Amino acid sequence: MLTYAAKNGHANETHLAHYAKFAAGGAGLVFVESTKVRSEGRSTLHDLGLWSDEFIGPLSRIAALIKHLGATAGIQLGHAGRKAFRPLPWEVSGDDRFSMATSTEAIERIAPSAIRHSPKLPLPCAMSAPDIADMIEAFGAAARRANLAGFDVLEIHGGHGYLIHQFLSPEANRRTDSYGGTLENRMRFAADVASSVRENWPAEKPLFFRVSAEDDAGWEITHSTELAKVLKSRGVDVFDCSSGGMLATRSSRLSVGYGYQVRFSEAIRNEAHIPTMAVGLIVEGRQAEQILAAGQADLIALGREFLYNPHWPLHAARALDEPSPYALLPRNYEYWLDKRAQDIQP
Ligand SMILES: Cc1cc2nc3c(=O)[nH]c(=O)nc-3n(C[C@H](O)[C@H](O)[C@H](O)COP(=O)(O)O)c2cc1C
Repeated sequence: MLTYAAKNGHANETHLAHYAKFAAGGAGLVFVESTKVRSEGRSTLHDLGLWSDEFIGPLSRIAALIKHLGATAGIQLGHAGRKAFRPLPWEVSGDDRFSMATSTEAIERIAPSAIRHSPKLPLPCAMSAPDIADMIEAFGAAARRANLAGFDVLEIHGGHGYLIHQFLSPEANRRTDSYGGTLENRMRFAADVASSVRENWPAEKPLFFRVSAEDDAGWEITHSTELAKVLKSRGVDVFDCSSGGMLATRSSRLSVGYGYQVRFSEAIRNEAHIPTMAVGLIVEGRQAEQILAAGQADLIALGREFLYNPHWPLHAARALDEPSPYALLPRNYEYWLDKRAQDIQP
């Protein structure tokens, strides 16, 4: 999840402390937030970047620390497209979430078509054919850098109304070339990005794709299933099933609640025969375990719950009566907590 803590795209101590907490807390896989493949793709001025080699060093410290603490290090790559350069969420209210960031930088937002996301954001520039080719290459170059930084899992952010989702959506994509029009054409950008990333990402390292399985503007679960089949053929290993984000207004169709997106993971897993990850208000160990046991997902992702409790895996393991819950933690914690547990036995 975005920490909004980067300066000029660079990772710093805040990121190190933030991601280390989850690795030390027992998470199996820690994903670094949506890291932008190009500077104009930042959703706020404080997003992380990976658009040049200078970002590799600071990010490699995060990957190394996550691994040192016993977790697998992952990172997500993204581009915000027409939703770029918005203010920090807590600095504005209501519709102003979709307004412009106050910046001295000259910013040009790009998108599949010149259609604005909200009345408060300026018209984006429609990407030319060379712009699209450059962007596909930028995703590949960022994947190469993520590998050099030491990450072992990569996720392409294809949801939440950002650039790839904008190409998928007839709401944001009105192109008349081979990247617009039919579903097949609208999926072409996502597919080409996946191929470019796969070419630059070692074959043995997993590649995830996050989708908005349904959105508020005509993208349905059946479309996501088709997309999953196409992306599987381009080397995507896991489909991460989120939803929404295309429109600036929250739709009543996508109601939010306990485990609200699990049904998307289940449907895509069954129909496209691809491993899926479920996310969205999964908050209890038993709930997570039931989702896995029922075959609704292969992996569980937690976001905000980890802000509340970075030791969530440990609590889940105890709630599920796992025999050695402290083994999830680094050895220097495990040793003392095991000893303490013996001492307090009645
Ligand atoms: C502060 C914040 C930042 C987020 N940043 C990202 C992001 O970088 N990439 C992404 O795919 N989703 C992002 N999300 C969405 C979360 O990954 C997650 O899908 C969502 O919060 C629902 O899961 P949860 O109920 O476990 O938090 C963010 C959510 C929040 C609240």
